Amino acid sequence: MVRRITGFSKFSKEEKIDWLVKAFFNKQSITKETLIKYWNTDEKLQRLHDDFIENTISNFYLPYGVAPNFIIDGIDYTIPMVIEESSVVAAASLIGKFWSTRGGFKTEILGTTKIGQVHFIYEGDAVEIEAYFKDVKKDLLASTESITANMRKRGGGILDIELRSKTEELDHYYQLHVTFETKDSMGANFINSCLEEIASRFEKEGIHIVMSILSNYVPECLVRAEVSCKVEELIQGTSEIDPNEYARKFKTAIDIANVEPHRAVTHNKGIMNGIDAVVLATGNDFRAIESCAHAYAAKDGRYKSLTQCEVKDGVFRFWIEIPLALGTVGGLTALHPMAKLSLELLQNPSAEELMKIIAVAGLAQNFAALRALTTTGIQKGHMKMHLMNILNQLGATNEEKELTVAHFEKVPVTHSAVHEFYKTLK
Ligand code: MEV
Repeated sequence: MVRRITGFSKFSKEEKIDWLVKAFFNKQSITKETLIKYWNTDEKLQRLHDDFIENTISNFYLPYGVAPNFIIDGIDYTIPMVIEESSVVAAASLIGKFWSTRGGFKTEILGTTKIGQVHFIYEGDAVEIEAYFKDVKKDLLASTESITANMRKRGGGILDIELRSKTEELDHYYQLHVTFETKDSMGANFINSCLEEIASRFEKEGIHIVMSILSNYVPECLVRAEVSCKVEELIQGTSEIDPNEYARKFKTAIDIANVEPHRAVTHNKGIMNGIDAVVLATGNDFRAIESCAHAYAAKDGRYKSLTQCEVKDGVFRFWIEIPLALGTVGGLTALHPMAKLSLELLQNPSAEELMKIIAVAGLAQNFAALRALTTTGIQKGHMKMHLMNILNQLGATNEEKELTVAHFEKVPVTHSAVHEFYKTLK
């Protein structure tokens, strides 16, 4: 069987599928049927999705859920989330409601600056390259005027260009380090176009441009979100947990993440459960957000928690500081009907407002995880939410699902317990 092909991208969608199923699948007709079943019946909508990338052959669904009852700086939000992990939206909903009766979430934008770099090699005299840069800096800025015109009208543009010598780290390596304000757009295309123009104007004999590209590390595009309450308000209803003991344990969990990278990675993964879900729902670039968040978590030379906590004078404070480069105009936000819908649900936020909402989603998710981990353990809630996945894997009918859910109201959910109980139904 030949499993290589040339000219694949020129094939029609049907031809691509036919080649693929013949080359890689045993149950060819079932595979083809599955791929086609996931096409949208609205042809125009399907074409839109086909055109997002090359070689689209079908769609891949993820659940789109919402978490209501978030109060952020006094405004009510229902937060859209796209995620496959069973417990994430449930946890967000629970925590949104919890903090809505304790003053809600407070946020602050600490910066919005983005970064791009022209990386180049120069083997000549350091003083000469500095003098040349000083001479041409104005021209470099002027060269981008047609690209930046619209952005400048919106209050953005290029903030500065610096020449940075990196020759101590790598022989003859310099960069033009450019800072940008891109307002409500994520700005990747804008930044890259400016950089390529700057590079072409800067190049001359002796300067060898290596590459021009935005940096996804944006520590100065930073947002902070916080919750606080009296320690005794941390415990709900008739729980027997001592609030002071709980607050101490909660803080210790964060202290552990600050000194132990193995724990910090899982801790931050839980934060990203909330963040990525909203980033995806709003059509933003989750890979950029992920790579930046983790680089920021390691900014002090050790990978640490993105959240922090203080328990002082009877008050519990819990906060996150995280860089988030987001857009609410342009890119997929305008093209993907569900991304558009998410933004409308969020009351058409500016990029700064979306930074705040997404930071809150991360903080809430971490609060949910640490609350469960330091009290009941994570599996109780997690497996309860996972029960439906197990039942779907077993091919349970609606009636069997209802009976099983009722049974596991009082019994801990484990894979084997569900399998055993299911057998008794058969
Ligand atoms: C699971 O997706 C996320 C958690 O592991 C996060 C954490 O441990 O803090 C529950």
